[in-house]
Amino acid sequence: MKYTYEFFQETADYLKKILPDTPEVGLVLGSALGPFADTIENPVIIDYKDIPNFLLSTVASHAGKLIYGTVAGKKVLCMSGRFHYYEGYDFEQLVIPVRMFKLMGVKALILTNAAGAVNMDYKPGDIMVVSDHIKLNGASPLRGPNVSEFGDRFFDMSRAYDPELRKLALACAEGIDLSVHEGVYMFFPGPQFETPAEIRAARILGADAVGMSTVTEAITAAHCHLPVLCLSVMTNMAAGILGRPLTTEEVDEVGKTIAERFSIYVTKIIRTL
Ligand code: HPA
Repeated sequence: MKYTYEFFQETADYLKKILPDTPEVGLVLGSALGPFADTIENPVIIDYKDIPNFLLSTVASHAGKLIYGTVAGKKVLCMSGRFHYYEGYDFEQLVIPVRMFKLMGVKALILTNAAGAVNMDYKPGDIMVVSDHIKLNGASPLRGPNVSEFGDRFFDMSRAYDPELRKLALACAEGIDLSVHEGVYMFFPGPQFETPAEIRAARILGADAVGMSTVTEAITAAHCHLPVLCLSVMTNMAAGILGRPLTTEEVDEVGKTIAERFSIYVTKIIRTL
């Protein structure tokens, strides 16, 4: 079996030799949210390609760098660039980043992503604190032999998005120049954006936003009892809502316009943790 506990330890052992200290908070930056990485102080930057048993970013807006440093006085380990199923990775491979964070000793993991708004009360540029997710597509990242050092074969998902962290994130929204909601993220595998009919179905099922990432990370974190906070940036209204085609440019543009305010918000959350 390839994905043994030792496989993941090899990654962590390499990083522990390079990093000056144990990180307290893990962070994954999604599409168009890369600029937050520039706010990390005293950065130690490691290329994904140099990390044993790690994966490589293939998406242009994902830098492919692991950054250790401080934010608001806290030691953070940040993935600037994440891995997606649509890049060709198997769901089983997508456990690698979260198990790295777990073995590096982080006490909380903040996941960020760009998402399409399904909820008609949301607008581009709004933030959604993810309360839960819907994943009806594809296999579980935990499919295959259980690595029991991380967690049990069967495990609870009802607190996958940590209630305390959600409360903290909503409280931190006070006084920040962003509209922050709480809602349900629905995973679609991509890389095509959803069809208008899929978006109508998602809304009926209870989704507030849709996206192509994050859920594998949240599932892997729940398995190894790593508390997760997920923040979705609404970069667009989902397909069919505005009656015009969706473009990557639109997604990237909205990401850019809120990058600075989003950084302030995330920094405040990290300070408050
Ligand atoms: N759908 C899926 N993923 C996305 C979207 C969307 O509308 N916007 C940003 N990421």
